[in-house]
Amino acid sequence: MEFRSCVGFALLGLSLGFAPITAQAQNVVKLGMVAPFSGPFATYGQQMLGGMKAYMKLNGDTVAGKKIEIIQKDSTGPAPEVAKRLAQELVTSDNVDILVGFGFTPNALAAAPVATEAKKAMVIMNAATSIITTKSPEIVRVSMTLPQVTQPMALWAAKNGIKKVYTVVADYGPGIDAEKEFIAAFKKAGGEIVGSVHVPLQNPDFAPFIQRVKDAKPEAVFLFLPAGQPGIAFMKGYEERGLKEAGIKLLATGDITDDTVLQSMGDPALGLITSFHYSADHKSAENEAFKKAYAEAAGTNLRPNFMAAAGYDGMALIYEALKKTNGSTDGEKLVAAMKGAKWMSPRGAVLIDPETRDIVQTVYIRKVEKVGGQLYNVEFDKFPDQKDPGK
Ligand code: PHB
Repeated sequence: MEFRSCVGFALLGLSLGFAPITAQAQNVVKLGMVAPFSGPFATYGQQMLGGMKAYMKLNGDTVAGKKIEIIQKDSTGPAPEVAKRLAQELVTSDNVDILVGFGFTPNALAAAPVATEAKKAMVIMNAATSIITTKSPEIVRVSMTLPQVTQPMALWAAKNGIKKVYTVVADYGPGIDAEKEFIAAFKKAGGEIVGSVHVPLQNPDFAPFIQRVKDAKPEAVFLFLPAGQPGIAFMKGYEERGLKEAGIKLLATGDITDDTVLQSMGDPALGLITSFHYSADHKSAENEAFKKAYAEAAGTNLRPNFMAAAGYDGMALIYEALKKTNGSTDGEKLVAAMKGAKWMSPRGAVLIDPETRDIVQTVYIRKVEKVGGQLYNVEFDKFPDQKDPGK
């Protein structure tokens, strides 16, 4: 009798001790975020996280009865081994339900097998080499691909009388993708490529490359570099070596004039033409609401850029998918729920292509202009419903 009551007491203790933890675990969806939060590319992580927080500010931190929790890990920069280890830690030690973030292509590629093995959905908020989504059935991308944003730039250039272009790209996945697409689309539209060069991803000295471009006397340069400091350094060299005066136009993907660095480029950036899916200057009610929420939630006085928009949209997609699965975080169910999802993003209407799990969106042609005394990418032409042409 006494023994029984003792067991009963122990069981009661167990249930008192463990029940709340179990209940809590069941009511939380953990998002494990891998992105740079330190070093020269720290704004990548800050922007994505700020965008995610902006979405939560507008839509609450609970969906399908589950509280959303974000666990951040700093991948520091393009560092595939670090990214893979962090993704592994997140799924094994932190028990996250979904992997998110990924600024750089090599990092996303290194983490892809982790998502596949753990059967966890992986939402890419930047890394933009076309092939990434083919590396795991768990991957869904809400950012862009380089071929997707490059093709409209090539078509626009050809349509606007530019005949001879020199291409300059960072020497890794997204750069190679951009170069390939620009050359193919521009030649098809009747243009000529007078030279192509790859520049190192890390700490490049642009001076010799810029001189080579100048000597070839093209009508324009097409440029892709990863967002942030590299674009500022290139613009400085372009200015110093007198390419603008020589009448050589600069065409680029919007990574170069991203909203976090544009203001520090100063007036030499005026008139620069880029193609991209997001500008802080995009005119829509959704973008106004996003910018306001971002300013309140992100804890920075920087403008939101395209990575912040992707962070916001990644959350929009995760919330919608969790509603459809009634809160289940099973990777297969979540990815199935994400396929074909449509919503109004701060960048315009978007859709997840059910075949490729990549985003379908409008790509805008923009020009750097002064708006209220500040430099902005002002949209003036557009290519609606662009799929990734790179697959
Ligand atoms: C990438 O590594 O895929 C990447 C990084 C920065 C960008 C675009 C693409 O601005």
